[in-house]
Amino acid sequence: MASSAQNPFGERPLAYGADGALAMDGHSLEAIARDAGTPCYVYSAAALRARARRLKALLAPGDQPAFSVKACSSLGVLKVFADEGLSFDIVSGGELARLRRLGVEGARIVFSGAGKSAAELQAALEARVRLVNIESLGELDRLRAFARGSRITATVALRVNPDVAADTHEKIATGHAGAKFGLTPGEARQAAAALAGDPWVRLEGLHIHLGSMLRRGDEFARALQRLEPVLLSEEMRPHKLQWFNLGGGVAIPYRLEEPATDPKPLLSPGIGFARRHKLRLMIEPGRYLVGPCGVLLTAVEYVKDRGERCFVVADAAMTELLRPALYGAWHEIVPVRPARGRGLRTFDVVGPVCETGDTLGAARTMPLPNPGDLLAVLDCGAYASSMASGYNSRPLAAEVLVDGETIRRIRRRQSAEELLGLETP
Ligand code: LLP
Repeated sequence: MASSAQNPFGERPLAYGADGALAMDGHSLEAIARDAGTPCYVYSAAALRARARRLKALLAPGDQPAFSVKACSSLGVLKVFADEGLSFDIVSGGELARLRRLGVEGARIVFSGAGKSAAELQAALEARVRLVNIESLGELDRLRAFARGSRITATVALRVNPDVAADTHEKIATGHAGAKFGLTPGEARQAAAALAGDPWVRLEGLHIHLGSMLRRGDEFARALQRLEPVLLSEEMRPHKLQWFNLGGGVAIPYRLEEPATDPKPLLSPGIGFARRHKLRLMIEPGRYLVGPCGVLLTAVEYVKDRGERCFVVADAAMTELLRPALYGAWHEIVPVRPARGRGLRTFDVVGPVCETGDTLGAARTMPLPNPGDLLAVLDCGAYASSMASGYNSRPLAAEVLVDGETIRRIRRRQSAEELLGLETP
């Protein structure tokens, strides 16, 4: 990967080629857009592998790095991580079905979520997932009954809410007392007491997840201080814990001028905790592994130039990238073929969806594009395709994986028949 000194794109697998157009791992994004149509997502397999390897290098051999499937659940991307030997963190039966399709065994899957349904718990049991992360006493009761009824031993971790308010966007913080996630430390001890001597449910781990876009190791250190008394409590004594799952949340830079995040200082309190207590460490980052590896390509439909206020209307919308509309998130937007000799203008890049909030980027300053020009929205590997919707009856966009010499269409664009396929008038 090029360093940021040579390449304004830092760790992203992007560079302007000799022909003047933006390329991913040497493949022209213009050619990919011509072939796949726009809007489309494009990912680099080399970048996915490089990030997975970098994380693995921070861990000990018995530890398990897991990819949080919700960040990007496309089969073509999951396959790259499965082949790299990663485990997976899932939150639904649908995500489980994706991994089953790839042949990923249950021993490489952990299942979180505040509202797992009866069918989802049953499917998790049957798939023999490594750990079901228990988030409520009600869920534990349900799972115990299913395990007994189906005579399948369930292995579980307790997801503890450590009441640490992470310094991040309020909608993606999960580890404070006001959040719906996890058990209080008191409930976790109750759950451990209830499981003593249960022949069908083995308590094997503790789990925390503080939130997303985390940058501070001290937040993890504080959470671990709150978790330690649970681990050392009387109620835990009958159980043979093996795992400590630190959750995900490693931030990535969304602005070109920001430096890359080093995951090590974030992970080191958890690594120390696991070693001290002789537990195997699990981590489950999503964004860190995929975010910088993908772009969303979009073509300009219209330019509404009103002097003071100028809108570039692109063919991608909040349906392909919800993050700006939902969180006010920033994604860099760059021209695929920068215009020469055109002056800079400031304009909003908006989509065709009928919502004023349907903005991909407000107040961007660059040469004003023309209709037909291509733009690349950066850092769309995570929480872009996986958060897509069909609002305004828009079809799901195509997805492309660039892998060395090859370019593979890992999802084609949804057709009009498929869009209506589930319905009858
Ligand atoms: N583990 C659990 C239990 C989680 O709930 C999540 C994310 C992760 C791991 C992975 O977090 P990451 O490493 O990707 O930060 N849609 C939002 C992010 C929501 C994250 C939800 N949970 C966004 O676009 O920023």
